[in-house]
Amino acid sequence: MEFDFPTEVLEEGEVKFLAPKLSAFVSSRQEYAPAKAPVFYNPAMELNRDIAVLALQAYQRFVNRQLTICEPLAGCGVRGIRFAKEVEGVSHVIVNDINEKAFQMAKFNVSINKINDRVTVFKEDANLLLSSYAAPHRRFDVVDLDPFGSPSPFLDSAIRAIRDGGLLAVTATDMAPLCGVHLKACLRKYGGKPLRTEYCHEIALRLLIGSIATVAARHETSVHPVFSHSTDHYVRAYLIIKHGAKNADKCLSEMGYILHCFSCLHRETVKGNVLLGYSSKCPECGGKMDYAGPLWLGKLWDSHFYMLMVEEFKRKKLKCAKRIYKILTLIGEELNGPIGYYVLDRFCEKAHLPMPSAKTIVELIKGLGSEACRTHFHPNGVRTIMPARDFLKILRKAVGLNSDDEIAVESR
Ligand SMILES: C[S@@+](CC[C@H](N)C(=O)[O-])C[C@H]1O[C@@H](n2cnc3c(N)ncnc32)[C@H](O)[C@@H]1O
Ligand SMILES: [Zn+2]
Repeated sequence: MEFDFPTEVLEEGEVKFLAPKLSAFVSSRQEYAPAKAPVFYNPAMELNRDIAVLALQAYQRFVNRQLTICEPLAGCGVRGIRFAKEVEGVSHVIVNDINEKAFQMAKFNVSINKINDRVTVFKEDANLLLSSYAAPHRRFDVVDLDPFGSPSPFLDSAIRAIRDGGLLAVTATDMAPLCGVHLKACLRKYGGKPLRTEYCHEIALRLLIGSIATVAARHETSVHPVFSHSTDHYVRAYLIIKHGAKNADKCLSEMGYILHCFSCLHRETVKGNVLLGYSSKCPECGGKMDYAGPLWLGKLWDSHFYMLMVEEFKRKKLKCAKRIYKILTLIGEELNGPIGYYVLDRFCEKAHLPMPSAKTIVELIKGLGSEACRTHFHPNGVRTIMPARDFLKILRKAVGLNSDDEIAVESR
């Protein structure tokens, strides 16, 4: 097949595929090549796709049935084709893109991988396509939303197109709104207020999941996050969709707010849909508390699902294995941890202290009999229930300064 723009044959996972030759569309390294090419392909998202292969395989083992999958925003088709070739127990994949050239390239890639019998390519608006699969018995086991920027325009139709107990995978790359640089855009797209804190990536993920839970609840449907990660310029969530009004009510009870004091770095959470009755004064220093939300205050990971993913990781050979190993190891440490994390840079900068390593601080806190772990969200992040004032004392101790007061150890 001939394309009227430069292309090249690439390999990812077990798939050989044609993609636009990205170097031909930019004149300098600063330019973002995937956005300039006539068909979308981003090599930096290979890690995202590798983890998706692991998550879908874990899900398939969990439900133990043949899966139907829809990738409604597919670009050159590499993700959906990888699912068909690399995930065991996949009966059919629908790959779709509204762009004519992407549609042609995805069709070509399906045929060179000789999987025409199991992968169908459409050229449709994603919402129209998903809506045509919203009726009972037509719905998919898995929908993977991987858009430009925000997935919010597609959430409603994706949820309606997933069967009871099915899996929704979602990427959001619009980190400027989600991390509080563009407040109004975040309120518009996710219905929650972001906060420019050092742990904004976790808040971003919680805003995304919160908005999905809210959309799902309108359809008397709940979400159960089984795996999430924040990597490079995006956040990604995997959620099991369960039908039923009671499930939806229970799910909404996991919504709430994170309160944050920019003065002493104290933070707390408040469950429920309103902030009524909460003073905006920090209980620690009397400073003014700001807030993020409404957002998801429930868990970001499911331990059993995580273990299934680790087993798949051991079985599969992936190009991004080294980075995935690091992400999975850190998530293994933090999956039952408290909400939010302290970032050492922020505390040390505020208190004019040299910076110890996150590992040292975790050990020190554990040595005091309290819980602490690192986080995959930030290389210098520490997750602990220890209050900010005690955390600061630990930091002072770690760098050889005397802490005057006793450190009160709280256990969960
Ligand atoms: C980020 S790219 C997809 C990348 C792909 N999922 C991957 O892993 O390589 C988003 C794609 O969505 C397509 N798109 C945007 N709006 C759409 C719509 N309303 N319906 C269908 N496709 C759409 C674009 O043409 C683009 O190819
Ligand atoms: Zn305070």
